[in-house]
Amino acid sequence: MRLYVNIDHVATLREARKTDEPDPVRAADAAERGGADGITVHLREDRRHIQDADVRALKQSVRTVLNLELGAHDEIVRIACRVKPFQATLVPERRQEITTEGGLALRGPDRKVGAVVGRLTDAGIRVSLFIDPDPATIDRAAGLGVAAVELHTGRYAHTSKQSDAALRALARAAAHAKARGLAVHAGHGLTYQNVQPVARIPEIEELNIGHSIVSNSVFWGLEEALRRMRKLVDEARGL
Ligand code: PXP
Repeated sequence: MRLYVNIDHVATLREARKTDEPDPVRAADAAERGGADGITVHLREDRRHIQDADVRALKQSVRTVLNLELGAHDEIVRIACRVKPFQATLVPERRQEITTEGGLALRGPDRKVGAVVGRLTDAGIRVSLFIDPDPATIDRAAGLGVAAVELHTGRYAHTSKQSDAALRALARAAAHAKARGLAVHAGHGLTYQNVQPVARIPEIEELNIGHSIVSNSVFWGLEEALRRMRKLVDEARGL
């Protein structure tokens, strides 16, 4: 199972002082040394954490792969097509939200998302759609011709006792997406405490984890925080 780490919050800390540390490039390097298979950043329209220059610098420095999260905003899509990360994950984005709150709605044939998928694909970028673990939404995503979907794990992660129902829904959605020919990713709200049941779902091949890893890096260092998450994920997969 691939473990991608979202390092947005390294930039959040830097932007709190508008200075040049901590540097996301250095963070990506430490994460890779700790066993990350990919580096994820979200270039938000309001540039609240990651900046355009970070994306360009990471594209040059990352030794694994770069996964760029983005909303369907023309300017950001243009930047993505220019930088050409290995993967682009399309997410819904609202200015007022603290973090990405739900998956892409995809009600019926979504021309706007479809057009963005086309532009990114034409630029040679692998496209993933961040969606809720819902069969009808998965079918619409498959209809857009993307390579992958990232299933939103928030409902599972945010219920106080990690409800079995939410986990079963995730497992069913993962099997459904795989059967539709999609690569299955998952993420949001995953922590050292709740990651293993999700990592055991066999169809899920990639996890994107940010806040918990970056939070614990304050105590352990980022390389060690990655190593500990890597160990939990590998253990869950019987490795
Ligand atoms: N996947 C996507 C699409 C996200 O938007 C985020 C949050 O930036 C994550 C995964 C990681 O979520 P968390 O920070 O809660 O681990």
